[in-house]
Amino acid sequence: MTEPNQDLAATQQTIAIGGDLLVGRIGFGAMQLTGAKVWGEYPDREAGITLLQQVVEAGVTFIDTADTYGPHSNESLIRDALYPYPKDLVIATKGGFVRGGPEYDDVDAVGNRIYLRQCVYTSMRRLGLDQIDLYYLHTPTATDVPFEDQVETLAEMRREGLIRHIGLSNLSAEQFRSAQQIAHIAAVTAHYNVGVRLGADLLDAAEAAGVVFSPWHPAAVPKDDTALRFNAVLQPIAQRHHATVQQLALAWQLHRSPLTLPIPGTTSVEHLNENLAAAAITLTPEDVGAITTLMPETTGERNN
Ligand SMILES: NC(=O)c1ccc[n+]([C@@H]2O[C@H](COP(=O)([O-])OP(=O)(O)OC[C@H]3O[C@@H](n4cnc5c(N)ncnc54)[C@H](OP(=O)(O)O)[C@@H]3O)[C@@H](O)[C@H]2O)c1
Repeated sequence: MTEPNQDLAATQQTIAIGGDLLVGRIGFGAMQLTGAKVWGEYPDREAGITLLQQVVEAGVTFIDTADTYGPHSNESLIRDALYPYPKDLVIATKGGFVRGGPEYDDVDAVGNRIYLRQCVYTSMRRLGLDQIDLYYLHTPTATDVPFEDQVETLAEMRREGLIRHIGLSNLSAEQFRSAQQIAHIAAVTAHYNVGVRLGADLLDAAEAAGVVFSPWHPAAVPKDDTALRFNAVLQPIAQRHHATVQQLALAWQLHRSPLTLPIPGTTSVEHLNENLAAAAITLTPEDVGAITTLMPETTGERNN
C-alpha cells in the first residue's frame, strides 16, 4: 500500500520561504543521521552520505538540520554528502541549544549575542556556505538574555548578510508576534502532527502573517494507548487513498494549511520515497476535518 492515488494533487507542490526561496512542499529532516540520542556521528557514515544524495536525487529542495544535531556532525555530513550544493537546495540550520554530554538531561540554551554569532559563523564554516538561507533560533528558552535580544542578534546578522532569512523554533504565538516587531520572520517550526498539536496556535499566527510553518515529527502517529482511537479514523481514510498511515499524516499536513512545509526524517530510501509520494494524495475536506478534529487545537499550551 505504498503507491497513493495519482489524482491531481489539490495542494500546491512548492512553497516560497521569505517570498524568494522556492522549495518543494515536503522537505527532509536530517536529525536521524546522527548517533543514538542525536549525539555523535551516524554509525554508518557512508550510508548516511548515500541517503542524503538520494534525498536530493529524489527532488527534495529543503533540508532541515541544526548545530546541536551531533553536535556539529549532522551539518558536516550534509556538506560531505552534497557540497557543492545544487543551486535549488535550501539548507535550514539552527542555533541556541548546547549539549553537555550524550544524555538529554544535559541540554541547555544560550542566547547571548556573541554565542549566537559564533553559532552562525561556525555553521557557515561546517556547511561551506557564505550565507545561511534560513537560520532558526532553535529555542526561545535561553535565559542569559531576553528573547527579544536574541531575535535582534539574528536581525543584525541578516543585515550583515550572514543570514538570508530568519526562522524561529518552538516558540509561542505571542513570542512570534513580538519577534515580528523586531525582524522579518520567514519561517517558524514546531512540534505538530496528527497526535501532538503543540504548534497549533503558532500555525494560526503564521497563517495570519503569511509565514511558512514547518511541522517537525510531521508524520508521527500515536503509538500509545490512544493508538486505537487514532487508527479507527486514519486507517479507513488511508486505505481509500491507497496510502500508508504515515503518508496520510503527511498529506494531512499539506492540506491543513497552504503554508506548511513538513520535514519528515528517515534513514531509509524506501521511506523517503513513500514520504515524498504523499504530496500526490488529494484528500477531501471531510478527510481533512476528520483528522484535524482528532485532537483539540486550542489547548492554550505554550510551545516551549
Ligand atoms: N525544531 C526542533 O526542535 C526539532 C525537534 C525535533 C526534530 N526536528 C526536525 O524534524 C525532523 C523530523 O523529525 P525526525 O527526524 O525525528 O523524523 P520523523 O519525521 O519524526 O520520523 C522519524 C521516524 O519515523 C520513521 N519513518 C520515517 N518515514 C517513515 C515512513 N514512511 N513509514 C514508516 N516510518 C517512517 C523513521 O524510521 P526510518 O529511519 O526507519 O524511516 C523514524 O523512526 C528532524 O530531522 C529535524 O530536522 C526539529
